[in-house]
Amino acid sequence: MIDKPGDMFDRDWEWAQLSRWVSSTVERASLGVMSGRRRQGKTFMLQAICEATGGFYFGATENVPRQEALRQLGNAVGDFLGSPGVTRFENWQQAIDGLLSLSTDRPIPVVLDEFPYLTGDAKELPSIIQHALAPRRKLRLDSRIRLLLCGSSISFMGGLLSGQAPLRGRAGFEMVLPVLQLPCRSRLLGIA
Ligand SMILES: Nc1ncnc2c1ncn2[C@@H]1O[C@H](COP(=O)(O)OP(=O)(O)O)[C@@H](O)[C@H]1O
Ligand SMILES: [Mg+2]
Repeated sequence: MIDKPGDMFDRDWEWAQLSRWVSSTVERASLGVMSGRRRQGKTFMLQAICEATGGFYFGATENVPRQEALRQLGNAVGDFLGSPGVTRFENWQQAIDGLLSLSTDRPIPVVLDEFPYLTGDAKELPSIIQHALAPRRKLRLDSRIRLLLCGSSISFMGGLLSGQAPLRGRAGFEMVLPVLQLPCRSRLLGIA
C-alpha cells in the first residue's frame, strides 16, 4: 500500500482504492475514470498519488484549441522525462501512445485531469483511447501505465463508459469521489 500523505484529511477508503489500482501488478496498461463535484479534492488526491509514486500529472486548460493542448501536454511530458522542450505530439494518437510509453517496467499513474476540456476540441479522443488500449495491441501490453481520466462532470465522465460509448467496459477502475463530510469540510476551512 502507498502511504497516504499526512496533509490529507479523511479519504482513507478512497485513497486505498486508488492506490490499490495504481500499484496493481496487472501486466499491461489499465484505464481508470474519476469524477466528483468541484472542490471535493480530486486534483489534490491525484497530485498526491503522482507525487507518492513518481507518476505523471497533467491538468488540461479550458477553451484551448487542439494544437495548443497537444503542445502543453508535450511540454509536460518533456519535463517529466527530464528533457524539456523535446517532446512534440502532432496529433492525439501520437500523444496517447507517448503516454503509454511513459512506463514499461513498473506501474505508474498517468493522470489527465480536467479531461472534458481536452475533448472540447477533440471529440474523437475517447475513441482514440479505445483503439490505443485495444486488448491485444503491443503498446498496451508492453505498457504499465494506469491512465486516469478525471473530470468534474459526473454525467460526462460516467458517460465515457456507458451505453454505446467507445470506452464502455474498458475501465479497470472507476470512482465518483463522494462529497466531503461536514466535519471534514469545517476542518479544511479552518472552522473549529
Ligand atoms: N482530503 C483533503 N485533505 C486536505 N485538503 C483537501 C482535501 N481535499 C481537498 N482539499 C483541499 O480542497 C481544495 C479543493 O480541492 P481540489 O483538489 O482542487 O478539488 P477538485 O479537483 O475536486 O475540484 C484544495 O485547496 C485542496 O487543498
Ligand atoms: Mg480539480
